[in-house]
Amino acid sequence: MQGAEAMTDTRDTADIGLIGLGTMGGNLALNIAETGHRIAVWNRTAARTRAFLAEADDLAPNIVPCAQLAEFVGAIARPRRIILMVPAGQAVDDQIAALRPLVDAGDVIVDAGNSDWQDTQRRAAALALAGVEFLGLGVSGGAEGARHGPSMMAGGSDRAWAALAPVLQVIAARFAHDPCVAHLGPDGAGHYVKMVHNGIEYADMQMIAEIYGLMRDGMGQGAVTIGAAFARWNAGPLASYLIEITAEVAHAIDAATGQPLIDLIVDQAGQKGTGRWTVIDAQTRAAPLPAVEAAVMARVLSGEAEARLAGAARFGGAIAAVDLSETELESALFAGKILAYSQGFSLLATASRDETWALPLPRIAQIWRAGCIIRSALLDDMANALNESPDSRLAFAPAFAAHLAAHVPSLRRVVGAAVAAGVPVPALAANLGYFDMIRQARGTANLIQAQRDRFGEHGFARADRPGQTGLHGPWAKPG
Ligand code: 6PG
Repeated sequence: MQGAEAMTDTRDTADIGLIGLGTMGGNLALNIAETGHRIAVWNRTAARTRAFLAEADDLAPNIVPCAQLAEFVGAIARPRRIILMVPAGQAVDDQIAALRPLVDAGDVIVDAGNSDWQDTQRRAAALALAGVEFLGLGVSGGAEGARHGPSMMAGGSDRAWAALAPVLQVIAARFAHDPCVAHLGPDGAGHYVKMVHNGIEYADMQMIAEIYGLMRDGMGQGAVTIGAAFARWNAGPLASYLIEITAEVAHAIDAATGQPLIDLIVDQAGQKGTGRWTVIDAQTRAAPLPAVEAAVMARVLSGEAEARLAGAARFGGAIAAVDLSETELESALFAGKILAYSQGFSLLATASRDETWALPLPRIAQIWRAGCIIRSALLDDMANALNESPDSRLAFAPAFAAHLAAHVPSLRRVVGAAVAAGVPVPALAANLGYFDMIRQARGTANLIQAQRDRFGEHGFARADRPGQTGLHGPWAKPG
């Protein structure tokens, strides 16, 4: 067996193991080591493992570096707990396949990457046949979060959760004294919730970018002025990680040119896919998710740089000035944020019913209060509202309905001004459309139904004949 000598040195000396020492994996391993756990680590390239150990400084005594996978598995006390932090997709399957002959029944493999929740279900079912437990763990908070306290969303069996909870609860971010980690349901439930978290993240980021666009293009403000407004907003009801870092990035000056760095960054957004997955999933469940849909569309369109250049040449990119106050912009963003989160929680409620997961929505809001990218002052109030009105949409819970009544007028003014001036605000506008539809007692789908019946005899129901469905025309020709 490879690495047999090293195995005699390290056997059973670690409490837990981690595979994949990229930015997230390395930081998570240091976080675990710092809490007093001995952690075995293995990376596909041994050079990275050596570099990691060298960077670990005074945490090195708690780290058991392994050159071979078999040595790594042997180093972990049983039942083994093995965390994978490798890129989502095939790499996870490959790593599980490599571990499979080395692990024993009762061991727990944790996938802490941004995996597709259905892949997690499939992997959990396959490993269960061999008695190996699998925990799908959504981890949010970027590199800083992984190092000093992420928010974590777990899906898996009670046994898998019981094995990992003592470690996860000490490495998690804390809101007051409450660790931001929870067991949310079986197999794919944790990765599902993380996916929806990322969808909300996309919507939040897009709405912030739209407000930035209004300030930059409609109001002629420079990056530093814009950053100062975001910094002020971060001291109010919008207080959140994304507002905080927006202020920071807007203030950064490029040393080489003396210009705001943000002005030099190419205006094409990347995406690894979780936002798109959220939209696709919402569509398959017929759950409305307009803000995330708009955000994904905007990222895709941002990448079509040639088309945008051609469009600017063909139609002119001229934008008229907008006259909006800082308070109106703040208030519009606040309303948009509530609507986006409300849509996200409604999607979670729908998925929970579809999949019979019984997702604990208030607890999800609680574990998003610290550590994760969408952490925000609002989430504590959202947790309370979801507790008090578990069956209602967040937007209808008394505290949030009152916020919307107070702030939607600003959203309307801001979207109206943007539309009139030609500044694109697709996510804010989508949220306004959603709001106006969810309070429209008499909608316009009667016309859709009539059209469907006219061209395809699809049938309709009549308001004056309750209980009768599948009714048809006759339809008339005009004049
Ligand atoms: C988090 C982030 C994290 C990652 C995103 C970025 O919660 O810590 O969401 O998971 O930064 O996957 O996603 P995009 O590359 O799709 O923007």
